[in-house]
Amino acid sequence: MPPVPPLPDFDIVIFGGTGDLAKRKLLPALLQRFLAGQINPGSRIIGSARDALGSASYRMKVAEAVTTGSERIASDRLSAFLSLVDYLPVDVSSEAGWAELKAKLEARPDRVRVFYLAIGPGLFAEACKRLQQFGLDGPLSRVVVEKPIGHDLDSARQTNATLANVFSEAQTFRIDHYLGKETVQNLIALRFGNALFEPLWNAARIDHVQITVAEELGVAGRAGYYDTAGALRDMVQNHMLQLLCFVAMEPPYSMDADVVRDEKLKVLRALKPLRGEDVRQYTVRGQYRKGVVGSVTVPGYAEELGAEQSRTETFVAIRAEVANWRWAGVPFYLRTGKRLAQRVSEIVVSFQPVRHSLFGASAGPLTPNKLIIRLQPDEGVRLGLMIKEPGPGGLRLRRTSLDMSFASEFAGQRQPDAYERLLMDVVRGNPTLFMRRDEVEAAWAWADPILAAWAQDPELPRPYTAGSWGPTAAIALVERDGRTWHEDLEDLP
Ligand code: BG6
Repeated sequence: MPPVPPLPDFDIVIFGGTGDLAKRKLLPALLQRFLAGQINPGSRIIGSARDALGSASYRMKVAEAVTTGSERIASDRLSAFLSLVDYLPVDVSSEAGWAELKAKLEARPDRVRVFYLAIGPGLFAEACKRLQQFGLDGPLSRVVVEKPIGHDLDSARQTNATLANVFSEAQTFRIDHYLGKETVQNLIALRFGNALFEPLWNAARIDHVQITVAEELGVAGRAGYYDTAGALRDMVQNHMLQLLCFVAMEPPYSMDADVVRDEKLKVLRALKPLRGEDVRQYTVRGQYRKGVVGSVTVPGYAEELGAEQSRTETFVAIRAEVANWRWAGVPFYLRTGKRLAQRVSEIVVSFQPVRHSLFGASAGPLTPNKLIIRLQPDEGVRLGLMIKEPGPGGLRLRRTSLDMSFASEFAGQRQPDAYERLLMDVVRGNPTLFMRRDEVEAAWAWADPILAAWAQDPELPRPYTAGSWGPTAAIALVERDGRTWHEDLEDLP
């Protein structure tokens, strides 16, 4: 990987430093950036939580967390990283520990301070209040929050107002980790770094777009949170709408953060509202039942939850539309779910069929071109094309594909995790890949009426067997329009 210039020394305080996000994502990402030489040995990583831990035992926990992966880390490099790590017990909801934190940070007053709130959203207000009370909200401070930003438009506005009471928008970084994925950023490169696509990127040439984020995992271990959220809040309102924005936005005139975000905001505002009867017609919600994923038999959602039944959806399919000049009439089919047949995230752009076929029936069917952007796993880009089947004896057509796989194109290079890029962007003060306040609110403004219509619906989410592709109604949603969900293996050789 090309070398990255080191960042000036900075401090990062992780509230929730003993929690799952810190252990699984944040600390391993910081380690990788340290190993890559992007984080200088003078920077400090301060874990913080209510637990009365000493720094030495926290470092042991960190060492354990960052070495669980398959990669071997040389012990001297690991020790060098751990020497950046410190721990302070701080209680976000009281004054305990704050004076010590302030003293520690003020020992290095002239550097960027990142406060990562890896804590429940119910504690954001308290944390911001204390940061202000202890004078830790200066111009070099930045605050990072994770979704969920609210559970509807009103609560999102409240959360945003709470943050804005203390930090300016430029200091506030709302993470959507999908934006840190290499292939998501690659969408920008693909669309705007090639002259090829732009003239075709509109309703006259594109028949429809499919965005699928399918997971094999269930909700075990997170059922408490998940049951209050569901797939629309957990995946669609944020990750999937952000993907849709990158596909549908107008070319920004520069990569300036607000220029890009202005264009995304226009897409969110142009989403055709789905209300009442539309919701019944254009959305499908499902919930998994016991089934086999891979070769393992897994329980149903309600069983995992320990409840008799639940109204929470673990699957959503939506036929959305972006009602503007470029996209009017082009369906954007969104689909996401837990315990589906395969873990796959992809965007499929299906072009219009050729207008007139020169070839007789003996040539075989003409399949419209598809551009398939595979986000995970097997990141890559594929363009489905028709060619002549080799050999004499008439002209027969065959589907084939131009294929670019990240793994073979960049063999030997490790693919950085989304958090690596995003954390360094926070330190650099670059908010391009973070959600702006108005984006979050516009996404909720679209999601709210769908949630409201579902809440009125006496029926439970449609059942689907774990290990399938979701309820049959999701297939019907697309087939009603004379289309089908893209299936990789069948569609292209
Ligand atoms: C999170 C959701 O934001 O994204 C999870 O809360 C989901 O429910 C996860 O599993 C998916 O992320 P990734 O990077 O594994 O696709």
